[in-house]
Amino acid sequence: KSLVILISGRGSNMQALMEANLPARIAAVISNKPEAPGLETARSRGYETIVLDPRSYPDREAFDQKLAEAIDAYAPDLVALAGFMRLLGDNFVSRYKGRLINIHPSLLPAFPGLHPHRQALKEGVKVHGCTVHFVTAETDRGPIIIQAAVQVMPDDTEETLAARVLRQEHRIYPEAVRWFMKDRLKLSDNSVEVSDADF
Ligand code: GRF
Repeated sequence: KSLVILISGRGSNMQALMEANLPARIAAVISNKPEAPGLETARSRGYETIVLDPRSYPDREAFDQKLAEAIDAYAPDLVALAGFMRLLGDNFVSRYKGRLINIHPSLLPAFPGLHPHRQALKEGVKVHGCTVHFVTAETDRGPIIIQAAVQVMPDDTEETLAARVLRQEHRIYPEAVRWFMKDRLKLSDNSVEVSDADF
């Protein structure tokens, strides 16, 4: 089995997937940002990388189409968004239904979208965390696969809170991919059943 990872930046979640000994091969890493530091990390570890710069395409549909072609060349079982900061159109999302997942640094459905740590601090929540979910048309609203919670400390800043959450991201993202690859995830309407059976 194989997966393709989509990034836009640092790529620490990508790195966690690379280091996790997954029962699947990482076929390629694709970035929409030519300057994403994660690209260099991937290259230096011998992974194939592709850059697709949205500025080279007339509109979202054209970019999404190119992205889909680049992905399909590898025929991956799974596409994993790892800090991929670009919205994907409905056509793209439905093409990869059930095999496109994302990690978001909040306990969804709380704090979707940008700056979830800032939102969490502003709301004064005492528990925050991260979520891996299947991607559907509505941003950050797809069926949830796994979540992890962290405590919010009184003196937290966006940075300290983000760092605490990130450690959990690096733990749960590989776990979710492992379950997917072992066929342990059953997706129905808006929920995911994780089977205990170990294949
Ligand atoms: C992570 O917190 C991810 O959940 C969010 O953006 C951050 C990306 O970090 N969407 P990295 O590129 O994986 O290091």
